[in-house]
Amino acid sequence: MGWITRTFSSSIGKKMLMAASGSFLGLFVLVHLAGNSSSLLGRTTFLAYADYLLSLGFLIPVFEILLLIIFCTHVTLALLLFFENRRARPERYAVVKSRGGSTLASQSMLYSGSVILIFLGVHLRNFHFISQKQPLADLIRTTLDNPVVGSFYIIGVLALGLHLSHGFWSLCQTFGLAHPKYTRTLDKKAAVFGLAVGLLFALIPVFVLFFPGFLR
Ligand code: HEM
Repeated sequence: MGWITRTFSSSIGKKMLMAASGSFLGLFVLVHLAGNSSSLLGRTTFLAYADYLLSLGFLIPVFEILLLIIFCTHVTLALLLFFENRRARPERYAVVKSRGGSTLASQSMLYSGSVILIFLGVHLRNFHFISQKQPLADLIRTTLDNPVVGSFYIIGVLALGLHLSHGFWSLCQTFGLAHPKYTRTLDKKAAVFGLAVGLLFALIPVFVLFFPGFLR
């Protein structure tokens, strides 16, 4: 157990765990995005995907518990690192100098993370903690065709895209995959990655809101 305490108490240990837990969550998001995107191929394809999920049986609750533990670890570490940084540098700079890796995404990690947390609460209430009596395709349509809910989903997934873009950048830094020579292209790649994930997720609420035939 000593290594757990040591890892959690050192800054670099926390950052490594943050990157590892973030990668797992990011991977989940990509798999979920791929599954959701099957809806763009039509109702039959999407319902086949929903059936496949059901066929996984007990693996689903096992995976959900793992996901929950990793998610809580990620959020706890983020808060610990945030307060640690605050304590180390209590006074705010009068002028924020532009420095490598300082972007809208990096500056807003705590805010985008908080939006994701709220989004997830609503999202799980909509799709997970529900005694589902209708096919998944209809549940998506009836949930997202309310303009307030649909817009909320669009904001939530775009916040996720912003969060992931810095997460991707940070992951490359933590595991030494970045080189000062390539930092500019890494910034661009991270931004394109985050934007692509956010926009692809956003297609579903947009289609539900603007194309009444979607998933019918
Ligand atoms: C337009 C965007 C989204 C739609 C339409 C959507 C749809 C769904 C649906 C239908 C389910 C239940 C079936 C399934 O597991 O696939 C679900 C579950 C879930 N979604 Fe999403 N989702 C969206 C975005 C997201 C995002 C951005 C995240 C993460 C930040 C997320 C996290 C989850 C989680 C954790 C579950 C529960 C997984 C489980 O029970 O095993 N979703 N989503």
